[in-house]
Order: sequence, then structure tokens, then C-alpha cells
Amino acid sequence: MSLRILISEDQITNRVREIGEQITVDYPDGTLYLICILKGACFFLADLARAIKRDAFIDFMAISSYGAEKTSSGEVRIIKDIDISLEGADILIVEDIIDSGVTLTYLTNLLRQRRPRSIRIATLLDKPERRKSHVDVAYVGFKIPDEFVVGYGLDFAERYRNLRDVCVLDPDVA
Ligand code: IMP
Ligand code: MG
Repeated sequence: MSLRILISEDQITNRVREIGEQITVDYPDGTLYLICILKGACFFLADLARAIKRDAFIDFMAISSYGAEKTSSGEVRIIKDIDISLEGADILIVEDIIDSGVTLTYLTNLLRQRRPRSIRIATLLDKPERRKSHVDVAYVGFKIPDEFVVGYGLDFAERYRNLRDVCVLDPDVA
């Protein structure tokens, strides 16, 4: 396996700052909850939260899909839920990457039942070619081609999350 930089640390820093400024403008009042989807979105959440120039609550959810081949079935399991009430709040789901869209479709439906004032999604990366389930995404860092990426929180079998850049994981050519 070899790693090729797709999006550099500097590009990420600049784009996250822009999204943070936009979110600051878009949410002038109300209670804003940033809900980070573990583990992949942890660095994005940390940088984005500090780029938002207003008070925001932070919480974490962990979700598991039953294996890659089963994600399209919509079988998603909540491993860690949030315990605060979301009623009347503005929720911003912070995700690392949207691929098929199955995970976020499930999650937004679940959170909508808790009667927030609004729900939006911020994702660092979007692979639009792979979409199976339509999701409205308010904030996208980068649209990327259908390649498997790691770094800045994203993993392959739990590895490479601490890379500073987003890299494509290429199988080595013999
Ligand atoms: P989906 O949108 O329901 O298909 O699932 C998105 C999830 O799949 C993300 O939160 C990641 O955990 C994982 N994923 C999708 N594409 C990649 C990738 O290129 N690298 C690492 N994880 C990925
Ligand atoms: Mg994820």
C-alpha cells in the first residue's frame, strides 16, 4: 500500500476556516449543537468548532454499519448516543465523509424524532458518485472522486487516522 496526498493540511485548514465563518453567519442565534460522528470526524470537529465564532455545544455519537457490504441495507447501529435533549435546538451533524449516504439518512431521521428546530449536515468530504440514498448536505469541505481515502481522522482498518493530510490509499503496483 502507498499513500498519495489528495488534500493537503493547508488546504484543509483554509477550507475548514471558511466553513466555520459561514456557519457563524448562518446561525446568528439559538442553541447550536455540533454532533460529531466518531471516530472519523474527530479532527474535523476539533478544527471546525474552533473556527465557529459563537457559543456551541459539542457532543459525540458512535455508529456502526454492519460491514461495508451491508450498509446499503440501512442497518445502522448506535454504539454511543447523546444524552442531552435536542428539543428546539439547531443541530449540526459533523461527519468525515459521505459515501452511499445510508448512514446519514438513518441518523437524520433518528434525530428528527427528537424535535430539534433544525438539522443540517457538515461533512469534510463528499463522494457524490457513490450516493445510494439522497441526503441534503449544507456544508461540504471537498468533493472527491470515488477513491478510498485516509488521514485527518479517516481510517483503513483503524490505521492512518493521525495523518495530517487526506491521502489516497493505493494498492502497490508490482
Ligand atoms: P455511507 O455514506 O453510509 O456509505 O458511510 C459513510 C462512512 O463510510 C463514513 O463515515 C466512513 O466511516 C466510511 N467511508 C466511506 N468512504 C470512506 C473512505 O474513502 N475512507 C474511509 N472511510 C470511508
Ligand atoms: Mg464515519
